[in-house]
Amino acid sequence: MHQSKFLWAGLIAILTLFISSQLFAQEDIIEKRQKLMKSNSAAAKAIKKAVEEKDYATVEVKAKDIMGNAEKISDLFPKGSTKGKTKAKAEIWEKWDEFSKNPGKLKKAASELADAAKAGDEAGVTAKVKALSGACKGCHEPFRAEKYSE
Ligand code: HEC
Repeated sequence: MHQSKFLWAGLIAILTLFISSQLFAQEDIIEKRQKLMKSNSAAAKAIKKAVEEKDYATVEVKAKDIMGNAEKISDLFPKGSTKGKTKAKAEIWEKWDEFSKNPGKLKKAASELADAAKAGDEAGVTAKVKALSGACKGCHEPFRAEKYSE
């Protein structure tokens, strides 16, 4: 009798630990994806400035940064990671097929911009910068909420 009580207490302690570690993991991942998104936005701003200065080498580097970020996006949205200060909409997981096409679209847009920048193609760069910002909006509009969930 005595022993089984201990067993229960131990089990409950382990369970509590497990659940709280899951919650921490969620906060962690939310923070990680917001950080990645902030770096997207920093790269996009650097691109805008570099285009004005016709500094195509920088445009290419920053576009490649966004390509690298794009590859990480899907992993930063594990199912149900909606607990905490996040603007991720439930639609991300309800329409995962649709959502998960967006990082690829972003990568493609960034890669085309990098190519245009490498070629020093001014008109191409202008068009691809627009397409890139369209790829950000194309995901934000359906999948990012206006307000934080908390
Ligand atoms: C695959 C979809 C997707 C793509 C593509 C995408 N975003 Fe996001 N972005 C999101 C979602 C979802 C959030 C909300 C994340 C959260 O709050 O947990 C977000 C949040 C952000 C934030 C706010 C971060 C914060 O601190 O809360 C910025 C800034 C941002 N995105 C910039 C960009 C830029 C710039 C691009 C394009 C270069 C881009 N994003 C491409 C889905 C996307």
